[in-house]
Amino acid sequence: MFRVSQSYPSFIILPINVLLSPDTHFSLSAIHCKQPNTVSNFLTELSRRRTFAIVAHPDAGKTTLTEKLLLFGGAIQTAGAVKSNKIKKSTVSDFMEIERQRGISVSTSVMGFEYRNLQINILDTPGHEDFAEDTYRTLTAVDSAIVVVDVANGVEKQTEKLTKVCRMRDTPIIFFVNKMDREGRDAFDLLDEIEQKLSVKVRPLSWPIGMGQRFKGVYNLYEKKLVLFHSHGKQDGEDTIVLEDLSSPELDKYVGESAARELRTEVEMVETVYPEFKIEDYQSGKICPIFFGSAVNNFGVKEMLDCFVEIAPTPLPRQAEERTVKPEEEKMTGFVFKIFANMDPKHRDRIAFLRICSGKFERNTNYRHIRLGRDLKFPAPTMFMASKKTLLEEAYPGDVVGLYDSGNFKIGDTLTQGEILHFKGIPAFSPEQFRFVENADPLKTKQFVKGLDQLMDEGVAQMFTRRSDGRRIIGTVGQLQFEVIQHRLESEYNAKCRYEPVNLFKACWVHATDPKAMEEFLDRRKRDIAVDSDGALVFLAETNWVLQTAQENFPKIEFRFTSE
Ligand code: G4P
Repeated sequence: MFRVSQSYPSFIILPINVLLSPDTHFSLSAIHCKQPNTVSNFLTELSRRRTFAIVAHPDAGKTTLTEKLLLFGGAIQTAGAVKSNKIKKSTVSDFMEIERQRGISVSTSVMGFEYRNLQINILDTPGHEDFAEDTYRTLTAVDSAIVVVDVANGVEKQTEKLTKVCRMRDTPIIFFVNKMDREGRDAFDLLDEIEQKLSVKVRPLSWPIGMGQRFKGVYNLYEKKLVLFHSHGKQDGEDTIVLEDLSSPELDKYVGESAARELRTEVEMVETVYPEFKIEDYQSGKICPIFFGSAVNNFGVKEMLDCFVEIAPTPLPRQAEERTVKPEEEKMTGFVFKIFANMDPKHRDRIAFLRICSGKFERNTNYRHIRLGRDLKFPAPTMFMASKKTLLEEAYPGDVVGLYDSGNFKIGDTLTQGEILHFKGIPAFSPEQFRFVENADPLKTKQFVKGLDQLMDEGVAQMFTRRSDGRRIIGTVGQLQFEVIQHRLESEYNAKCRYEPVNLFKACWVHATDPKAMEEFLDRRKRDIAVDSDGALVFLAETNWVLQTAQENFPKIEFRFTSE
């Protein structure tokens, strides 16, 4: 856990093989200027961090799995403590529900716990697909991801989108095939579907013995253990038996002759069809390990967690426009990937979430806000955990710090100790739905403009200003954001907005190395050019055909579907 002012845990000195294991992504040379003791403490803390997100299509079991992991880590004591941050379709217009969701999201933004001497940080992602962009941004702040797949539904729409975002940055992925206590797809078919639809290579590290009514457990291929399933009676739902040799008659004794025969054949197939598991292939994003289990029955979860802590990467280097930043560097750097504003309308509070990329973050220390070009100090940096806030004194790479903010931060902002750096990988994604937004109360223009700007800084949606007539267009991933903007403008900024339909298929960012080609393009497509909130040029295509024709007619122009 972060070092907190109230109760500072004693340092845990890891054995040297853990400190310098192959999955330790840092070198000692970069921190030679520190005092040996400080260096060793810093490296120990760094090597203890594992920061990841659990993502899934709604209902696959993300909340349930998160809760079981927190129970293992002792971060919560009872089941049901983790509230689902889902907004069900039926409550689309229920603003109390949106506020409730925001409340849950802020308190569970980072869920930290200690497990086997490691500091595990789970970054929460929204449960509703209309907030997918928030999830995409959170994925830029993690070092690995666990993707939950429902055994009956297989790969779903959000599974595809979220895995694609992970793959853009080669984020290491572990799949957890959930709900094995129910009838679902044949395991081999499911793995084929995962490989084909998600363009990944997989490697099972556990293998199911039956499913649904006939589900008997899994064989853990990683640790060579038989894990037997009990759906009732036992608190942790499983019994583990060390069984190195599957040909042993012991297996028949535990699962019955026919299931044992089936398991032997299937495991043999697994070993022939899938490549041997290598940590480096997983950490470079080339191979995704797969586990099977049932989150609600707490089955197969511990197997995955035990493997996760052994193979998941320590904080990874981060790419800035200027250079690669390594976590072991002495100087603190970090970027803001999430902002929550106005949780309490009376206080106009905003909390910016900073992912530490290198060095040690310390309370009450000046850090340079690169976009604003000035130093800021944070007297009350915070850690959130299950609705409890804790003041923290220091944080390490991989940690996420909540900073109280009076409007200085935008998503993507960088803090350093002076060096000019701009972290990459916080792109805006081309939105899917568009509307003109107009001020509905001319007496409140100032509030309207301020409210819209702040909501855009927070990343609620994207705003494009059309150059030809100055009209503002809001672009979102889902319908819900339009309602969120309208509601929050009224309740937090005392401003009113009105939407008008706009016929748009895509907004894409345009780039060209040849300034003349860009000039000609901008001139000929005047009517369809807008700028985003950062002033970047955007082409507004009315239809797919218009987009394709523009791409054909202007080959020197690059049309990008993310802002980076
Ligand atoms: P999400 O966050 O990914 O949206 O999913 P969540 O964990 O909320 O799980 C969705 C539903 O699936 C829940 O049921 C949950 O209990 C159930 N579930 C999760 N894991 C398993 C599993 O291993 N086996 C089975 N059979 N069900 C599982 P619900 O009825 O929607 O909610 P609840 O009333 O049970 O909380």
